[in-house]
Amino acid sequence: MLMRSGPIALGGAVLVLGGAAVLGEANAHLPGNQQGYQPDQPIRYSHRMHAGEMQMDCRYCHFAAETGRHAGVPPAQVCMNCHGQVTAGADVLLAERKAALDEKRDPRRIVSDRLRPLYDALAIGDDGKPDSSRTPRPIAWVRIHDLPDFVAFDHSVHVTRGVACQACHGPVEAMEQVRQEAPLTMGWCVECHRANGREGGVAIPPVAARAPDHVSVDCAACHY
Ligand code: HEC
Ligand code: HEC
Ligand code: HEC
Ligand code: HEC
Ligand code: HEC
Repeated sequence: MLMRSGPIALGGAVLVLGGAAVLGEANAHLPGNQQGYQPDQPIRYSHRMHAGEMQMDCRYCHFAAETGRHAGVPPAQVCMNCHGQVTAGADVLLAERKAALDEKRDPRRIVSDRLRPLYDALAIGDDGKPDSSRTPRPIAWVRIHDLPDFVAFDHSVHVTRGVACQACHGPVEAMEQVRQEAPLTMGWCVECHRANGREGGVAIPPVAARAPDHVSVDCAACHY
């Protein structure tokens, strides 16, 4: 920046201001366009760690995507399949195991601060046992993608025909925190349907059972 002459620096400043104005608008969440929306969640659950590093299948948790309209968010019990044993990050658990070995004792059970909200939601104590003095309550995940009710969208028609989650949600396996990648506007739906209709078929590799004439741009396909 210091090396730049006046007029170029001025140009840069104008551009930065322009960019800020555009971002400001996107953050205002105009109805029907929440592209980029990335709310904080009640638990700092990481898709990058689980679906990326650990390569968990999306459908292990979003199993409903194959059979119905909604992909759904998994109930806390699904998390406890692992987090009954994995009570903290690997680094913390390994350090405790080593300390226990050195001190010739049993390793202590450590529930990390990041996982405690999961235990709280299920009313399970740090010892892994149900705590009868507390009531379980569902985790209040903040909904990110949300189409208006007058639109008929169904996950299963897409997922069972081989449209990848990432085609609509972007590289979720690289996201520390999920954000809405696509605009979710009518134009966005129709553009992909056009590209994959009878004449198209470039954006998505054809899969065996695919019926391209079902990639409809008729109003009635998406509106009741
Ligand atoms: C271990 C369980 C688990 C796995 C595996 C998983 N997810 Fe998720 N997903 C969640 C949870 C919990 C939430 C809600 C909290 C959040 O947004 O991070 C969520 C939220 C989402 C959302 C946003 C939902 C909304 O409110 O709009 C999308 C999109 C999503 N996941 C896609 C994926 C994709 C794609 C994969 C595979 C690459 C995947 N998930 C793998 C548990 C999982
Ligand atoms: C053709 C585009 C498309 C594909 C493919 C797709 N989604 Fe979605 N997804 C959407 C849209 C649109 C919404 C918003 C739905 C609504 O509000 O009714 C959504 C919502 C979600 C949600 C929020 C909860 C819900 O069901 O409304 C999750 C979680 C999710 N998707 C995960 C996935 C996963 C995992 C896959 C792959 C197995 C996937 N999606 C494939 C477009 C897609
Ligand atoms: C298949 C097993 C498995 C499932 C299912 C699973 N996790 Fe994990 N999770 C792990 C492992 C293993 C780690 C530790 C990774 C590390 O530290 O390298 C972890 C780490 C975490 C952490 C960070 C803990 C810390 O203290 O650093 C959080 C938070 C978390 N998971 C939340 C969840 C939530 C919420 C769900 C359910 C939606 C879930 N996990 C489902 C295996 C799983
Ligand atoms: C990435 C591409 C893509 C996007 C984006 C997309 N779709 Fe689709 N959609 C498809 C494909 C491919 C099919 C055809 C599946 C088949 O072969 O039957 C389809 C089928 C459908 C069908 C079934 C139509 C019929 O006549 O049976 C509906 C309804 C639908 N999509 C609604 C939507 C809506 C609503 C959106 C936007 C919120 C959307 N789609 C976004 C690719 C997409
Ligand atoms: C492939 C799916 C799809 C098809 C086909 C489709 N729409 Fe839509 N439509 C949507 C989605 C998604 C929205 C909500 C997002 C938005 O407003 O852009 C929407 C919104 C609308 C709205 C509300 C706009 C607003 O500003 O609130 C109207 C009106 C509408 N559509 C009419 C039509 C008509 C008429 C046709 C046929 C020429 C049609 N749609 C075909 C998916 C579709």
